[in-house]
Amino acid sequence: MATIDKTQQDAEKQAAAMAAVKFVKNGDVVGLGTGSTTTFAIKELGKRVSDGLKITAAASSIRTEELARSLGIEILDLGSLSEIDISIDGADEFTESLDLIKGGGGALFREKIIASLSKNAIIITDASKKVKKLGAFTIPIEVLPLAYQYVSDQIDKLGGKGVLRIAAGEKFITDNQNLIIDADFGLIDDPAKLSSDLNQINGLLAHGLFINLTSKVVMSEGTDIIIFE
Ligand code: 5RP
Repeated sequence: MATIDKTQQDAEKQAAAMAAVKFVKNGDVVGLGTGSTTTFAIKELGKRVSDGLKITAAASSIRTEELARSLGIEILDLGSLSEIDISIDGADEFTESLDLIKGGGGALFREKIIASLSKNAIIITDASKKVKKLGAFTIPIEVLPLAYQYVSDQIDKLGGKGVLRIAAGEKFITDNQNLIIDADFGLIDDPAKLSSDLNQINGLLAHGLFINLTSKVVMSEGTDIIIFE
């Protein structure tokens, strides 16, 4: 795998974020993702709000909510929304057909709800996230703690290899008080089929394959902005 220059990658993340925030209009309900790329977008939205942009937002994680509120962005209760005008979120991998792997930051469950509610779901990335086939990045899977072993066994039966996510020496606990299994299925030939198979597993709350949930990917590469839609 090619080494990635972190400074260049951060510059690309920021450029993609700035380009995507231009799509947000007065009066929009905005879905806010989670992660380092989305953080650039939230900060830029905060600037536009202090310059007079009127928006409300729904957050995909506690840390996103805290950041947005600190910048003066009004946060709505995600559970009360039937529709979101536009959402901005990052990804761990994407293909030109707009299939994604998400959830590296562990916020996939709420991110998937936001993407499902969004009329215009925009993904922002640096160039390192574009792949021909998904699967070099393991698929994050949010699971009820009491279903952990059952779900792990079902992942095995589907040909995957799941590992419980650990952070700072402890089980990683999501904002929804659940566990994450990071599942390796190798490079995935048919992401839609795998997504559908995973959706059949009881106790599996959400997985990081996002299929047909993206309107466009705004990718920054060097000094270029490339839009896939
Ligand atoms: C969090 C996510 C993030 O969007 C994804 O992990 C990309 O993160 P970053 O922008 O920090 O590279 O899905 O659950």
